[in-house]
Amino acid sequence: MSNHAVDLGDDQLNDRIAAGVAAVERLLHDETNRGASFVSDKAQHLSEAGGKRFRPIMALLASEYGQTPGSESVVKAGTVVEMVHVATLYHDDVMDEADRRRGVESANSRWNNSVAILAGDALLAHASRLMSQLDTHTVEHFAETFEELVTGQMRETIGAGEANPIEHYMAVIKEKTAVLIASAGYLGAYHSGATKEQATALRTIGGAIGMVFQIVDDIIDIFSDSQESGKTPGTDLREGVFTLPVLYALEEDSEAGEGLRGLLTGPLGADADVERALELLRASNGRERALADVQRYLDIVSAECSALPDIPATHALLSLASYTAARVG
Ligand code: IPE
Ligand code: IPE
Ligand code: MG
Ligand code: MG
Repeated sequence: MSNHAVDLGDDQLNDRIAAGVAAVERLLHDETNRGASFVSDKAQHLSEAGGKRFRPIMALLASEYGQTPGSESVVKAGTVVEMVHVATLYHDDVMDEADRRRGVESANSRWNNSVAILAGDALLAHASRLMSQLDTHTVEHFAETFEELVTGQMRETIGAGEANPIEHYMAVIKEKTAVLIASAGYLGAYHSGATKEQATALRTIGGAIGMVFQIVDDIIDIFSDSQESGKTPGTDLREGVFTLPVLYALEEDSEAGEGLRGLLTGPLGADADVERALELLRASNGRERALADVQRYLDIVSAECSALPDIPATHALLSLASYTAARVG
């Protein structure tokens, strides 16, 4: 989904959101352009490399419920959330030793880990400055959000240990992914002057869409061919990261389950082992069970939306949720 391709089902809403995204792009550019050029060029490497701008779009849609949709504060809040997101991408690529991001070389690969970490920090500095122009409630909200995000990345790094692996996975993706999308919904609503109940509903909707987003991403990593997804299948598996469909398959009392329990004891070095694991996963019910969880979160979105006013943004949120899920069909 590129910004330009989003059809939210209503012409005027499309125009308002497009104008809001353009304002976010300008602010993001201007605010990251400050300071020494040897810092700003690194900070803009990923922030200007595209990306879906999913979180600002969420904030802008949530602002439709208040009196000031797309206001200056809403644009600032959407920009803060995108800056924090991009900062975590820099840091995540260091942790995951990723070499590509947003269709370009990752910062750690183009420069080195130190540069990538500092570029992420620069974005956090810019986000803090913008937040200070909003209010202390936003700063407090951000502190909670960022603490959860870090907890999720740390929880993933440490691993499940003795904990139930599926509960561990759910906690990780809620913290590392869903919380920031929830925050976009909350802050967009709050800064538009929506009611407290609506802001809470939009936080819940953002969180549920975030869960769908990450589970679907993890399903795609395993079950899509690279032509469809633009990624190499089995990347997580290769690294020994067992995502939801794999965890379900590993639980299975079947030949596929047994095969996988023998094979998946750590990172997979050989291509033939990855191929074999993917084959066993396709024979398991891991995909189906993960999709049942996706449906559970889609149902939360529907239930919350049915309590919101019947405005174009409500329909747009429902289509955004189903669009996010439809990536796996
Ligand atoms: C990537 O997020 C990180 C995850 C939480 C899976 P996005 O898929 O929203 O990345 P961009 O912003 O479009 O690059
Ligand atoms: C990204 O998680 C989540 C955050 C940046 C907090 P992943 O490591 O699972 O996502 P990708 O595949 O690198 O985008
Ligand atoms: Mg990563
Ligand atoms: Mg990661």
